[in-house]
Amino acid sequence: MLTRRLGRTDRELTAIGLGCMQFSNTGAGARFYGATAQDAATAIVRTALDGGVNWFDTAEMYGGGHSERALTTALRELGVKPGEVAIATKWPPLMRTARSIGATIGDRLDALQGHPVDLHQIHMPWGSLSPIGAQVKAMARLQLDGKVGAVGVSNFSAAQMRRAAAVLEAEGLSLASNQIQMSLLHRNAERDGVLAAARDLGVTLIAFSPLRSGLLTGKFHDEPERLARVLPIRRILGGFTAKALERTRPLIDELAAVAAAHGATRGQVALAWLLTRYGDTVVAIPGASRPEQAAELAAAGDLRLSEREAAALAQRSLAVARRTR
Ligand SMILES: NC(=O)c1ccc[n+]([C@@H]2O[C@H](COP(=O)([O-])OP(=O)(O)OC[C@H]3O[C@@H](n4cnc5c(N)ncnc54)[C@H](OP(=O)(O)O)[C@@H]3O)[C@@H](O)[C@H]2O)c1
Repeated sequence: MLTRRLGRTDRELTAIGLGCMQFSNTGAGARFYGATAQDAATAIVRTALDGGVNWFDTAEMYGGGHSERALTTALRELGVKPGEVAIATKWPPLMRTARSIGATIGDRLDALQGHPVDLHQIHMPWGSLSPIGAQVKAMARLQLDGKVGAVGVSNFSAAQMRRAAAVLEAEGLSLASNQIQMSLLHRNAERDGVLAAARDLGVTLIAFSPLRSGLLTGKFHDEPERLARVLPIRRILGGFTAKALERTRPLIDELAAVAAAHGATRGQVALAWLLTRYGDTVVAIPGASRPEQAAELAAAGDLRLSEREAAALAQRSLAVARRTR
């Protein structure tokens, strides 16, 4: 599988990591995908590892530590020792001051059951009782004290990234990553300056919801009756409507054409497109609800699209977006 350097650190991440929001038992993650039992989580992690994935993204917010525990329980059951894979987690700023970053790192390490925090991320730039500068400084303290391997952010704008990078630089550190939504159906980073800022600062963009919550696999287009089984919050936030299926169908058809040429699936092509389009700047963290999905997603890290195929998909995705304006 392709690998990418995490920001300016020495860490090599596989271009596909596994998103572990699916391992939440409560909160937003569970309301989006439903809960995942431990044996299923372990099977998903096993399949991802077998496919070559060497890192995992989780967060305190994914069930208040449940996802972190489910992930590391799976790793223990599979005989994976601390340090053999990388783990990224996140601090949720909502109604908290920057002081809680230092105060909660022990809880994160407890939830990770002996695994280190290789990347600690500020989950979102809003909701904290402290300014971003103070939050980033508290994160820098953790890295300087050896409690986390690197510092990242999530959902940050270009200006917020630059601010975070400057605060870290003053401490002799660098901003490793910004985790944002990126997919063929969400290309905001190309327009809002985030992609340019990432390239400029040497920051890795971690693409979340790279399959647009499953829409880009085409399975809902094949069987629209699946929409009725999607949980309400996912249906609303993910835009799972009959109208959205019709609007995006030309893009799904283009994905199918490219997939057929490679003996791949539409979802794999959607992931490979991100890696081709954005090059070394991007890694993707698709989530899996079932083991066979994890196997498919991991294999996308070996799929190479031609520039022509990537450009055709980009054009089709713009045309689809234009039809909504
Ligand atoms: N930083 C943030 O604010 C933020 C926000 C959201 C997510 N994230 C992170 O990003 C990760 C991924 O995002 P996401 O889970 O929202 O979206 P996603 O990766 O675009 O979609 C994942 C879902 O798509 C379906 N799927 C996956 N592989 C498939 C396959 N091969 N065939 C058919 N269906 C497949 C599964 O759902 P079904 O089987 O149920 O259809 C799966 O749960 C999360 O786990 C989390 O770690 C971060």
